Amino acid sequence: MASEKVNLAKTGLKGAVRMPGDKSISHRSVLFAAIAEGNTTIQGFLKGADCLSTISCMRQMGVEIEEKDEVITVHGRGLDGLKEPLEVLDVGNSGTTIRLLSGVLSGTSLYSVVTGDESIARRPMSRITYPLKMMGAAIDGRDDGNLTPLAIRGRSLKGIDYISPVASAQVKSAILLAGLNAKGKTSVTEPAVSRDHTERMLTAFGVEVNRDEDGRRVEIYGGAKLTGTDVYVPGDISSAAFFLAAALITPDSHLTLENVGMNPTRTGILDVLEQMGAHIQVKRERMQNGEPVADLEVTYGTLKGIQIGGDLIPRLIDEIPAIAVLATQASGTTVIKNAGELKVKETNRIDTMVSQLQQLGAKVKATNDGMIIEGKTDLVGGTVSSFGDHRVGMSLALCGLIAKNPVTIKEAEAVDVSFPGFFNVLNGCKN
Ligand code: S3P
Repeated sequence: MASEKVNLAKTGLKGAVRMPGDKSISHRSVLFAAIAEGNTTIQGFLKGADCLSTISCMRQMGVEIEEKDEVITVHGRGLDGLKEPLEVLDVGNSGTTIRLLSGVLSGTSLYSVVTGDESIARRPMSRITYPLKMMGAAIDGRDDGNLTPLAIRGRSLKGIDYISPVASAQVKSAILLAGLNAKGKTSVTEPAVSRDHTERMLTAFGVEVNRDEDGRRVEIYGGAKLTGTDVYVPGDISSAAFFLAAALITPDSHLTLENVGMNPTRTGILDVLEQMGAHIQVKRERMQNGEPVADLEVTYGTLKGIQIGGDLIPRLIDEIPAIAVLATQASGTTVIKNAGELKVKETNRIDTMVSQLQQLGAKVKATNDGMIIEGKTDLVGGTVSSFGDHRVGMSLALCGLIAKNPVTIKEAEAVDVSFPGFFNVLNGCKN
């Protein structure tokens, strides 16, 4: 297991950084291309460990995927064309892969077993297996179908109208993907809008997707065909969040983050930063493939603590670890609530962030559904761990930029899940 040490930044962070491809969109591009008819080219694909797991699972099911000059070409096999995998499908650390893939597999005529690493083995799958079973799927797993490995015997499904208890794009997408192979109409209604990349990309692949005005209810019809297309993956705002935070806490910083996806279901971090008093300039706004994209300019500035909760949470759920670090450097108290979903991410991110930030000298405490952070605190540095969670690892790395002593992060290789080369890019901004 590799450790990485991050030292105090002696000067501000400067330069222009191009953000790696969006993880959510990269997964979907390969998965949807595989079940589409005809070829799809994908530019800007994130070659992080998670998305490579999606590629390897699809290859195991006979999908031909080539890579040349940074362009990925997927030769689609159609919804009924996937081959039965001879071996167990391994999703590695990727919750998106296992949940979306299970949705697809449920409505095929294939038998498959899907599993992942020890983090995946702890994460709840009943949130997808329960509605998929309502559609007629035959899925089993440990703990009555809640835990991996999942055994899926594909069979014909019927559409359902599902009222989801959680705002989760993985749940919504699993059901909609199963719905493509189900009889009749399938709809999902969420308590708050989760990221809508599935809806946007299914539309780009030629599927009719109906959404109500606020986006909380989505509906598709069984038997719809996907047609291969050209996909451009924008940069990941969840990766950009670490660099926004890095510049905001390191005096004299000025960074330009290029090619950042600005999908409104993902930009909660920008709303929060504005409320905290940060000035972020949004430049070169453009549309690519049905997804808005822009460059972001961020300058160091003083921040104030705020309250974060409610419908905002799904729009920034992955950014909460970075927000927690920012809050240690903001004046006053930051309260994060209604974020119980953090407990079922790659780690329990309430526990991991609170315990590791405390170790570095932060004044932070866990609550039932979030955390309370007192600022502004001088961080002391020390040795902490990502606990194998990419976003925890990157958040803790930020602390090294401002802590009195270096911050050493154990299990630092976890960052490769969503941001290969993260430490080099961060160090590059110091020069
Ligand atoms: C994702 C959805 C979110 C997010 C995850 C990626 C997706 O999870 O946290 O990193 O690509 O659909 P939930 O669906 O569990 O909220």
